[in-house]
Amino acid sequence: MAEISNIRSVKGMHDLLPASSRVFSRIEAEMRRVFSQYGFSEIRTPVVEETRLFSRGIGEETDIVAKEMYTFLDRDGTSLSLRPENTASAVRAYIEHGMAVSDPVARWYYAGPMFRHERAQKGRYRQFHQIGAEIFGISDAAADAELMHMLMDFAAAVGVSGGRLGINSLGCAACRPAYREALKSFAVGVRERLCEDCGRRIETNPLRVLDCKKEPCRAATENAPASADHLCADCAAHFARLRSALDAFGDTYEVDRRMVRGLDYYNRTTFELSAAAPAEEGGDGAGLGAQNAIAGGGRYDGLVEILGGRPTPAVGFAVGLERLAMLSPWAADPLPPAVRVFVMAVGEGTLEPAAALASGLRRRGVSVEFDGSDKGFKAKFKRADKSGAVVAAIVGEDEARRGVCAVKSMTAAMLPGGEKQAEVPVADAAAYIETVLRHEA
Ligand code: HAM
Repeated sequence: MAEISNIRSVKGMHDLLPASSRVFSRIEAEMRRVFSQYGFSEIRTPVVEETRLFSRGIGEETDIVAKEMYTFLDRDGTSLSLRPENTASAVRAYIEHGMAVSDPVARWYYAGPMFRHERAQKGRYRQFHQIGAEIFGISDAAADAELMHMLMDFAAAVGVSGGRLGINSLGCAACRPAYREALKSFAVGVRERLCEDCGRRIETNPLRVLDCKKEPCRAATENAPASADHLCADCAAHFARLRSALDAFGDTYEVDRRMVRGLDYYNRTTFELSAAAPAEEGGDGAGLGAQNAIAGGGRYDGLVEILGGRPTPAVGFAVGLERLAMLSPWAADPLPPAVRVFVMAVGEGTLEPAAALASGLRRRGVSVEFDGSDKGFKAKFKRADKSGAVVAAIVGEDEARRGVCAVKSMTAAMLPGGEKQAEVPVADAAAYIETVLRHEA
């Protein structure tokens, strides 16, 4: 068989080694704590869905669907895709499980990997992780404001504050068509200054022109009409209520009149939380380079119906976990030792008492690295040092014969008897070590 060498992870997809995965876990623990305070419950949906869920839900003309999905045929010929986001899946689950019948109000959150074939760069990956939350069944803008407040609370809980909250309103099925037309005629007027993609978007989805990241397109559309100026009376009232609800929650925000977001399902409220500008740009944020959106979200009142459910208002957001982790001060924390005790068995007849001691300690909730290999004392002490354990318990042949073990402090601290090392009966060793550790803490 030909030898395979140099296999690496797929471009834009990264391993999370303990130092990073620990930050992710801490952030996820805060997610559970904060979100449950707001009455949200966790859902977990499959990573793979039928492609049509996303093309219908997110929109054929969006970059995500048109260019970025990992799509493949299942064995029966069904087109499947790795999820590029989780809102469409949450809506599918909401409909599939008949939520609207039992209780249309659902507050769900999720965390997990998403996949987009984007140009990989700092803060932008092909497999990345999102933490998101969705509220179904409430149309009042107070829900939008509460969700944004939860997002800010969560970001602050992981040490990320000072971000900028931008909001906008995209109107609804009643007022969007007139706005679309106004934007379209504006875009036609500046067509020669727009990129090729935007030229095409004028016909297919003119709102996307405002979302283009290319500088010439941004400059050309600087004075483009804003959706916020074309709202019908109901949408204008909804947007005004959103602003007063945000004030009620005490959140600072800015109206960002050109924020359209990169997914087609939004109506009325859209919002984004971006990192404070990096120091070199006059801000105090750590900076995420060009990828400074920490989170994005908005209202999608039409999506449940589009995907085959009863009309149900809904609003949600998703945070990019990698971006949040990069900004969190926890990223700089050194990795704490994995264990507090190192138990070693050295020589004939030592495995059984040493294993019993390790189990006894673990039953008491103490973390233990166990080394029963055929290496000698020297190698095992070296490993014990590396492990960061506070205490080492040693069972050699002599100790095993006498039914004892040696307990050694691995730090500067003395054991209760005032020595660095003590000998205790194996049967009492777990309780003894537990006392030593309590003393240490
Ligand atoms: P989104 O704006 O596409 O919205 O993504 C939300 C966040 O995911 C972004 O602000 C960013 O932090 C992160 N993100 C997106 N793409 C990447 C990438 N390639 N690499 C790293 N991070 C990335 C949504 O996905 C919507 N489902 C949000 C939502 C929920 N709207 C309503 N409910």
